[in-house]
Amino acid sequence: AWRADLAGRHLVVSAGGTREPLDPVRFLGNHSSGKQGYALARAALARGARVTLVSANSALPDPAGAEVIRVGTAAELAAAVTKAAADADAVVMAAAVADFRPAARAQNKIKKVEGRDPEPIALVRNPDILAGLAAARRPGQVVAGFAAETEDVLANGRAKLARKGCDLLVVNRVGEGLAFGTEENEAVILEAGGPQTHVPRGPKEVLAHRIWDAVLRRLGGAPA
Ligand code: C5P
Repeated sequence: AWRADLAGRHLVVSAGGTREPLDPVRFLGNHSSGKQGYALARAALARGARVTLVSANSALPDPAGAEVIRVGTAAELAAAVTKAAADADAVVMAAAVADFRPAARAQNKIKKVEGRDPEPIALVRNPDILAGLAAARRPGQVVAGFAAETEDVLANGRAKLARKGCDLLVVNRVGEGLAFGTEENEAVILEAGGPQTHVPRGPKEVLAHRIWDAVLRRLGGAPA
């Protein structure tokens, strides 16, 4: 059994994948299931934390005891996470956020026209929510993100940690049946100016607990 070492903490987790609408019926999306983010929420609840789960398009059941805020787009996710982060001890961005969105959202369903090629879809950048949270964090607040890498996991992870300016980066090894939609993950938890913890392939619940251990260490809590 886990001790209630996160009691009194407010922890915010984003999960799932954003959808960027093209028209009233279509979107640009990704394959994130939300499993890792939901595992983080459940693990934090089991250790006594107050949890806000900002969930983008996940089909998973609400974790009992969490405040669940459902969002669709990256802009909605940014607004909900930023609001919840105001009094949070830590924020973990586990959601797969679209880097780009369609420049315009058609009011009506885009129709195919006989004998004519489709219009190209113009895209614009979405803001980097994680980098924004890291730049705006209060003293003592811990901000963590995820990254998926297929090669040079450590070097690429360290570079991304520095670029995002966050405290922790969980680098997933993807490919070979790992990560998206699966029950298992293998990862390295990188800490800014600190150690790196390899978490061998195993249940997302186990990785979730290792991530909260690292967050708690940064918060100055009891050593895990
Ligand atoms: O840059 P990359 O997409 O690899 O970074 C992944 C991390 O950044 C994840 O934690 C994800 O939630 C976050 N992210 C974000 N806003 C974006 C893109 C990614 O917060 N627009």
